[in-house]
Amino acid sequence: MKKILVTGGLGYIGSHTVVALQKAGYETIIVDNLSNSSLNVLGGIARITNVSPTFERLDLRYKAEVVDFFKRHSDIEGVIHFAASKAVGESVEKPLYYYENNIHTLVYVLQECVAHGIENIIFSSSCTVYGQPETLPITETAPTQAAASPYGNTKQISEEILIDTCAVENMNAISLRYFNPIGAHKSAEIGELPIGVPQNLVPYITQTAAGIREKLSVFGDDYDTPDGSCIRDYIHVMDLAEAHVVALERLLDNKNEEKYEMFNVGTGRGSSVFEVIEAFEKGTGENLDYSVVDRRPGDVTAVYADTSKANKVLGWKARRTMEEALASAWKWEQKVRNS
Ligand code: NAD
Ligand code: WQD
Repeated sequence: MKKILVTGGLGYIGSHTVVALQKAGYETIIVDNLSNSSLNVLGGIARITNVSPTFERLDLRYKAEVVDFFKRHSDIEGVIHFAASKAVGESVEKPLYYYENNIHTLVYVLQECVAHGIENIIFSSSCTVYGQPETLPITETAPTQAAASPYGNTKQISEEILIDTCAVENMNAISLRYFNPIGAHKSAEIGELPIGVPQNLVPYITQTAAGIREKLSVFGDDYDTPDGSCIRDYIHVMDLAEAHVVALERLLDNKNEEKYEMFNVGTGRGSSVFEVIEAFEKGTGENLDYSVVDRRPGDVTAVYADTSKANKVLGWKARRTMEEALASAWKWEQKVRNS
């Protein structure tokens, strides 16, 4: 069994990816500092897969601890690096924390991979690197734009660090540029656990339907889109998780054409905020209280992926519908509230 290190593996996307990795026959080892996750996630993963992943509580900002960890686990064959902070607004308030937590951690992980001959790494990038693109859908060759936040900048800098490292070291990397992940594992054993008031649309919707939030604010209906609300590419988190397994296998099987590659991971379909609300109401039978408010600063009008590179080169395609994703998010919300 090949041993795969999953940093940030107790987080939202990491935990779903651990499930997909275990289902595909990999041994996983998770490191996480629990800054945005809980130990309960381990139980959820074990209930789905019947395997409890190895876990070490580790803060990747502390280099000496990272060095010590890799000394003890030099038999790792691949790394999926999720660990990072991800709140766009918070990154504007605390830029140095974001640069430390998102950049230092990547550098330390890469240094130890190089030191121990671990040659394969998958990195969590984001469609945020594209800003508001000039043409839609967005292909990987679209120019990246000046980041609108320190968070976005950390993703651009991280990709550059990977390019420069792969150019000179025995290292192969794939950046997956995620669009908007939503939903939960169908078992509702794991899902998204936002701390405090959710900033993202789908957790806000489910918390409103659950009565925790009074009503959803739709941020603007005067955008240049068919119904005036912003358009995004919402991808089921399990589809995204499976993309990691496929990308990892490309590296483990030496099938990559370049030492550094990047892929859009979305559905290829754009949905407006009003369409998401409608799909949620239809799929769950719940009525959602919402009202339109001013635009949210920093929001771009429309973003959705051209996924043909991932479809052709990785042989991966999002299979699940948005309705399915919303239903799983709702099931998860109810489970969390009732437990
Ligand atoms: P998450 O916060 O749920 O997961 C990140 C995990 O990393 C958490 O469990 C957290 O405790 C851990 N972590 C953070 N700093 C750490 C450190 N210094 N040492 C060890 N562990 C640490 O976030 P997520 O939504 O699962 O995102 C995973 C990755 O995907 C992140 O890199 C994020 O930037 C990226 N991403 C997320 C989205 C999204 O919409 N969720 C979109 C694009 C990219
Ligand atoms: C989606 C749409 C909002 C909340 C963010 C990050 C991005 C990436 C994914 C990490 C927008 C609207 C939202 C609400 C609303 N993360 N909305 N009412 O902004 O596309 O992307 O998460 O890399 O970097 O910026 O996602 O879920 O916040 O918003 O009307 O209460 O929903 O205006 O159009 P976003 P989101």
